[in-house]
Amino acid sequence: MEMIRSVREMQQRALEERRKGRLIGFVPTMGCLHAGHLSLVKLARARADLVVLSIFVNPIQFLPGEDFACYPRPVERDEALCLAAGVDVLFYPDNDQMYAPDHSVVIQETFLSQGLCGASRPGHFNGVATVVAKLFNIVMPDVAVFGQKDAQQLRVIHRMIRDLNVPVEIISGPIVREADGLAMSSRNRYLTPAERQDALCLHRSLDYVESRIREGERDVETLRNELASRLAHVPSARVEYIEFVNDETLRPVARVEGAVLVALAIRIGTTRLIDNTVLRS
Ligand code: PAJ
Repeated sequence: MEMIRSVREMQQRALEERRKGRLIGFVPTMGCLHAGHLSLVKLARARADLVVLSIFVNPIQFLPGEDFACYPRPVERDEALCLAAGVDVLFYPDNDQMYAPDHSVVIQETFLSQGLCGASRPGHFNGVATVVAKLFNIVMPDVAVFGQKDAQQLRVIHRMIRDLNVPVEIISGPIVREADGLAMSSRNRYLTPAERQDALCLHRSLDYVESRIREGERDVETLRNELASRLAHVPSARVEYIEFVNDETLRPVARVEGAVLVALAIRIGTTRLIDNTVLRS
């Protein structure tokens, strides 16, 4: 496995591969890798000759007071996981490589990033879209893989690709979960043992909604109230949002009809966790 830290070197490597007609598959991450990330590597592997995984904790997608400074960076462990997963190139730039001190251009998606996490983390998706566009210009992938875990992010990236005519195919992977249902996340390691137990409330809420849909319930207000009162019993949980939105427009719906994304953001103690599922009725 090659380790590349310089932007210029990564671009040269990518150009070399492209000239040989080899397909580049790309998995952008912020590191602290887990089986969710590695499932995306597998999808990239199936589609590409060269698999590049990037690790970059992108400062501009964190808001003041969020966990940028303490975001876990277990570098050696990540390297070993990439090697075992068959990553060909680990691109691991530092901040100076990625951002000039006076950088001043951002990509702003103005529709899909309004609600859900965009409402509680204003500016977050500008940071994501900007860094992903930069990474695409550096890694020059044919195919890039994102997880459904970050459902809104995935849709914002799709929209950016479409609206800016970016020649990259986006593919998505399903949410990978722990055996008990907790969606894997680099932030799960912030949880105390008691909070880890409470964190199951996200997955259980989604399961509950699915069972109510099977029973025939379609009214969003009823479903949201039921979820809120169940979550009120979880000691460390504080609901940030429970949203039922059209899966394409991400606009709130009143009834579950067609494809509806149910998305949750819940603070467990001080840790903010998200999870989602798409209901199709
Ligand atoms: P990060 O949170 O490290 O996630 C990297 C990729 O892994 C994203 O596409 C995310 O959706 C996916 N992922 C995370 N947990 C997953 C799980 N349990 N199952 C399946 N996929 C999962 O998302 C980011 O980093 C950043 O915003 C980034 C796109 C790298 C831009 O900085």
